[in-house]
Amino acid sequence: MLRMPRRRLLTLGGAALIGTLPAPRIADPFTLGVASGDPLPDGVLLWTRLAPEPLHPAGGLPPVGYPVEWQVSEDERFTRVIREGTATAFPAYGHSVHVDVRGLRPGRQYYYRFRSQGHLSPVGRTRTAPAKAAAPRSLRFAVASCQAYTDGYYDAWRHLAAEELDVVFFLGDYIYEGAINSVGGNRMDSTLGLPDTFELETDTLDLYRMRYALYRTDPDLQAAHAALPWILTWDDHEVQDNYANDASRFTTVPAKDFLVRRANAYRAYWENQPLRWPRQPAGPDMSLYRRFRFGDLAHAYVLDTRQYRGDQACGDNLRAGCDDRDDPPRTLLGVQQRDWLLDRIGRSPARWNILAQQIMMAECRYGGTAGRLDMDKWDGYAADRRRILETAAHTPGTVVISGDIHNNYAADLRVDFARPETAAVAVELVGTSITSGGDGSDTTAQLDTQRTYNPHLRLANGQRGYVRCELGRDTMRADYRVMSEVTRRGGTISTRASFVSERVRPGLVTA
Ligand SMILES: [Fe+2]
Repeated sequence: MLRMPRRRLLTLGGAALIGTLPAPRIADPFTLGVASGDPLPDGVLLWTRLAPEPLHPAGGLPPVGYPVEWQVSEDERFTRVIREGTATAFPAYGHSVHVDVRGLRPGRQYYYRFRSQGHLSPVGRTRTAPAKAAAPRSLRFAVASCQAYTDGYYDAWRHLAAEELDVVFFLGDYIYEGAINSVGGNRMDSTLGLPDTFELETDTLDLYRMRYALYRTDPDLQAAHAALPWILTWDDHEVQDNYANDASRFTTVPAKDFLVRRANAYRAYWENQPLRWPRQPAGPDMSLYRRFRFGDLAHAYVLDTRQYRGDQACGDNLRAGCDDRDDPPRTLLGVQQRDWLLDRIGRSPARWNILAQQIMMAECRYGGTAGRLDMDKWDGYAADRRRILETAAHTPGTVVISGDIHNNYAADLRVDFARPETAAVAVELVGTSITSGGDGSDTTAQLDTQRTYNPHLRLANGQRGYVRCELGRDTMRADYRVMSEVTRRGGTISTRASFVSERVRPGLVTA
């Protein structure tokens, strides 16, 4: 029997509470699980969202606030509770709860849970970052992205939850915005029983909120959130396929109208992820790029390649002979974010610098030297890429991690990809999707072409899964974990390929 003392209500994010609210009794509101994220040496962000009827607007709750008690313990049975308090799930924030717990010890594992209206949440496990001055022997993380709910089952998340990891980097496409057939796509589960509103593309705040709720009802995804802290960034589908800054993929939509949709999408994103209060969006703007430190071993730079980019050169997709892509003013990160990144990695004291971002950085030709390049990727923003790789050339230990493309790639990064005889300056691990694209296959004609014409690619694979990575003091190891299938429940996982790379002499070598 849980016993939680009634505590004075906390003040969160400067929003003064209005006292204990007389809220009606409700069914179990913890249908979306629990999560933690953005680990610091002294704290972590805890998240949950109340939704007794997750597939309905407002989670089936009336527009009143609910007090939510929380506890952090050193042990799973909560006999050594070291922090506790009460937050409020406000209707204005979709009844989400974001608790910024501080005063924890660095590099330690903790357990947490919530209680509201007589209901107890599942227990989550999390981990703080090492102390700033610590010299950790290793950092273990996973690279994951792209989990189209209707494309398959989330068994990859169940396997990931069983791995020994410190943190997950989720690199975008947490939801997909398109209409969902009410029988559930590849899941083909006629008992899914989605309300008809899921047959609408998301654009309003309610529709985005309900889309997150659908995804978060999945028990395997909940298990992965409950197993360890996540550090997230978004890609395009959290708003709309291939959008750029204030430009919809449809040129007929004026920027001012698209920004209304972006505001709805960003607000729902913040509400539904373990992000701190200062990250809350203001209208259509939300600052998501940020840095995390893991002692002296690694600094992670989490980037946003969607909100500030110039519109894609020569159209959104594959183009050959597009000189505009190399225009020096054309920027993927925006000037402010790019200068922040270059300044920090240029003088980074860490042994490794992780660039956690959405899209493939390595050049990827779909054909010979005149082959097409994807204008939505770093290939469409070649000047920005060159500046980053020139900085990396003087900064040992740069590891770029990416998602978006629903394939696994392992790449040596060079300042000039046309000169394969030159030394690599960094390495890139492109992680495949969790489900997006369905089962996939080890290779395809397109992957064969890419391997042929891009000698810096050490792996090109089209299965589902994630990348498991361990940074040691001098060596990085990456294991590409792939699923047997995702369109049926119970897919198994195996290691398709493993690579190592030396910190001071980057270049992927088969392990
Ligand atoms: Fe995707």
